[in-house]
Amino acid sequence: MNYPEIVEQLTLEEKIRLVTGYGSWHTYPVERLGIESIMMTDGPIGLRKVDEGETASHVSVCFPSGCLTACSFDRDLLEKMGETLGEECQAYEVGMILGPAINIKRSPLCGRNFEYYSEDPYLTGEVAAAYIKGVQSKGVGTSLKHYAMNNQEYRRMSYDAIVDERAMREIYLAGYETAVKKSQPTTLMCSYNLINGEHASESKKLLTDILRDEWGFQGAVISDWGAVHYRDKGLAAGLDLEMPGNNWANQGFIRTALADGTLTIKELDTCVDRIITLVKRIVKHPAKFDFEKDHDLTRRIAEESIVLLKNKNNILPLAPETKVAVLGEFAVKPRIQGGGSAFINCYGVDITLDQLKGRGNVTYSKAFPSDGDTWEEAELEAAVACAKEAEVAVVMAGLPDVYESEGFDRTHIHLPEAQNLLIRKLTDLGIPTVVVLQNGAVVDMPWADAADAIVEAYLAGEGSGTAIARILYGEVNPSGKLAETFPLQLEDNPSYLNFPGDGYSVRYAESIYVGYRYYQKKRMNVLFPFGYGLSYTTFSYSNLRLDRSEMLDTDELNVTVDVTNTGNRFGKEIVQLYVSDKGDQTGRPQRPVRELKEFAKVALEPGETKTVSFRLSKRSFAYYEEQVKDWLVPTSEYAIEIGASSKDIRLSETVKITATKTVPLKIRPDTVFGELLRDPRTKQYTLDNLIKQEASGILSFSPEAIAALMDHNPIRGLRNFSNQPPQRVDEIMVELKKLAGDTD
Ligand code: GLC
Repeated sequence: MNYPEIVEQLTLEEKIRLVTGYGSWHTYPVERLGIESIMMTDGPIGLRKVDEGETASHVSVCFPSGCLTACSFDRDLLEKMGETLGEECQAYEVGMILGPAINIKRSPLCGRNFEYYSEDPYLTGEVAAAYIKGVQSKGVGTSLKHYAMNNQEYRRMSYDAIVDERAMREIYLAGYETAVKKSQPTTLMCSYNLINGEHASESKKLLTDILRDEWGFQGAVISDWGAVHYRDKGLAAGLDLEMPGNNWANQGFIRTALADGTLTIKELDTCVDRIITLVKRIVKHPAKFDFEKDHDLTRRIAEESIVLLKNKNNILPLAPETKVAVLGEFAVKPRIQGGGSAFINCYGVDITLDQLKGRGNVTYSKAFPSDGDTWEEAELEAAVACAKEAEVAVVMAGLPDVYESEGFDRTHIHLPEAQNLLIRKLTDLGIPTVVVLQNGAVVDMPWADAADAIVEAYLAGEGSGTAIARILYGEVNPSGKLAETFPLQLEDNPSYLNFPGDGYSVRYAESIYVGYRYYQKKRMNVLFPFGYGLSYTTFSYSNLRLDRSEMLDTDELNVTVDVTNTGNRFGKEIVQLYVSDKGDQTGRPQRPVRELKEFAKVALEPGETKTVSFRLSKRSFAYYEEQVKDWLVPTSEYAIEIGASSKDIRLSETVKITATKTVPLKIRPDTVFGELLRDPRTKQYTLDNLIKQEASGILSFSPEAIAALMDHNPIRGLRNFSNQPPQRVDEIMVELKKLAGDTD
């Protein structure tokens, strides 16, 4: 309790009001005790400030969405974005922004993937922590969401995510864990869905045991809007604030539960104290909303994040004199943000065509609409004719709003057919073709081999038009890398057979094998791998050094590597560090081929070399062991891999790690060992010393007994496979027990 002196002065009614929202966007004030009300608004990519009782939101600045900002792999940039959003909140007298949104991209179909960062939990946690630090450095709160396993929109209010503990810890919760431990977010927002049969809003395991007791979270937990199931159960589990405020209907549950003892006043007071703590963590200061400055920052963030996926024969950057045909209505109606609660009433949207015309010799043809997938054949033909008059065609492609949003999932990953048709027509004609994509999530690209260049701009915010133009004309050297895998087809995705579930539950059957963890384990080809992105310059990697070649799992490992700009223009390179368990994994939990465990972005002038340093600790090598409910590092040899992407490993060195903590080998009770080790007279024996005795030749076990010993044959195996009469089993058991000094 941080404010026991205040809590004890509150009436029960005031306590009940404090743990419930006040209207749609506020906390409840108790003036007489100096408890102010704070306002919270969506995020995460700008302020969607909606006054109580209104629907329209105030004008604000729309930043790039999470799908793009994660591609920057730039912690400082995300922190800068957070700081700016924090100042905007101060200017608008908003105490807390409802972001970042960090659910893992289990399936490309999830309608809110545009809002989320990645398929990888390490990248997710790092960029989330940076965003949170930035916002909170300005005295403004954040709400890390949607905790947890909200990885689809279909039946989001009620589906039950059936997920194993290891996948939960290593994939779906790890980003939250990192963000909590590195940035102490003011709040977490619990999700709508259930997890293994329990509402997230009532899960003590999720909201208290893991979040607070294990991770040391010191903030408050708020509900997603309408996510509360039973308010009293939520309070007992650690859900401090119900949002939005309601007609007090749920308050009845609190009174009843207090009366019948299913909720204690201590539990209520704990939540009340956290709300008071939340409110007092918000430190107001005067601020001015500098729309122009912030607008320019959205452009810069987009430029640092956009990903160059292909650039055959260096068709990019374009020369100012090159005749360029810009095709597609996105050029004049850019797709810059996703739909739903994150939607921003933009201050000013840069129009891509205008920005291109200001830099080069540009013509335009609509080709296809920006708001759907119908098209006019004549418009398509006119676009082809326009392209024939030019030297290069730039197709502004992407996903119309109606394809993806909060509230529903996609059913495929195709672009509108007109776009694929046009690109194919152009490439079949041999017209040099650049495709710029404005999409919130993965799309397939049947024309990827034929296109000359591909630029993934995702949903790049209100400055995207300028950012795209500056990249196409080389004013900026693109430096983003993919935060998610682009598979060759949707059916290759590991969640495909279990998405979106049957409307009741969703089996996360792929367990930890999400994204590149799956494709690489299965040695599958993909269209573009996680961590991939090109530049207008080139980089080389050298001199990878580890400060030790052997260590205990409790030691730290220092890694350095040199990166050189081997091209002729300034550029930034995202250096990725992957860890790979190279040991024999038979008989122990399998590991992904490699996992991202560090990254750094380094700016280099032509010819310049910089040394990048990383420090790895136990968790960099560990997997989550359900038997001991802890993170373990098996004794093994691990490769430290330095990659330009998850598939382009440039350098690798190994380190031998010895475990200081292992798990007891799981032995089924119905095996020979199970029988022996369960027997109180022989349980001091272990699998090891039984086998050692055999291996040392002391024993004269029968072949069946050795088979039983060596591969955990169930006792029945001795009968089923032995060519001896059934009583032989007993003889073998006698032999085994003799070993154990059992004389009777
Ligand atoms: C929505 C969203 C959540 C948002 C909240 C308030 O349902 O799930 O992200 O912050 O409600 O708009």
